[in-house]
Amino acid sequence: MINFLSCGSWPFHSTPNLSKDKLENQFDEGYFIGEGNKTFLILNDDGSIAGVMRLFDLGSGPDDDETPLFDIKIKEEMRGKGIGKQALKWLTDFVFANYPNKLRFEATTRIDNTAMRKVFEHCGFVKEAHYREAWPDADGNRYDCTGYSILRSDWQNKTKTPVKFDL
Ligand SMILES: CC(C)(COP(=O)(O)OP(=O)(O)OC[C@H]1O[C@@H](n2cnc3c(N)ncnc32)[C@H](O)[C@@H]1OP(=O)(O)O)[C@@H](O)C(=O)NCCC(=O)NCCS
Repeated sequence: MINFLSCGSWPFHSTPNLSKDKLENQFDEGYFIGEGNKTFLILNDDGSIAGVMRLFDLGSGPDDDETPLFDIKIKEEMRGKGIGKQALKWLTDFVFANYPNKLRFEATTRIDNTAMRKVFEHCGFVKEAHYREAWPDADGNRYDCTGYSILRSDWQNKTKTPVKFDL
């Protein structure tokens, strides 16, 4: 996983290139697998890695009600083939099926990350936040950031409840 992440390029993240040293330190500190964190590999049929998903802010146990977030990184040549949609659907089912007190599941992405935003829409997430100039890139440019979430009730009922912004 560390090789996979350090060899890839992640243009919509604040740090597009991840160093092996930093990833190894993060791994040792429980950033990927530890209290409140879980990481899943998305595998190709031949067992090679197509992507990595990290769940975080899970809290201290299966009954914790803290709202979890996630990150997803798919290898450049595997993008745009439907893997992101399939993977987020799986991850959402995993969260709500295994953590009975989780009422929300959320994530943010840069405004111009069209593929990720389409994946959110496809998987039942609703845009609920817009943070202006909140996302710096590696060169110091600032981008707006969007926040999406899915509610347990919408997941259960296969609905999408709109946000009441005008209240
Ligand atoms: C964002 C990401 C997870 C999406 O996964 P994916 O497997 O590429 O997406 P999918 O193939 O499931 O397609 C999602 C949709 O986005 C569209 N899409 C894919 N790449 C696109 C691009 N570069 N520009 C615009 N739309 C794109 C697809 O056509 C599809 O549209 P549809 O719903 O109308 O069919 C993946 O591209 C990725 O890992 N990117 C780099 C890391 C990243 O940005 N992670 C998100 C951090 S918040």
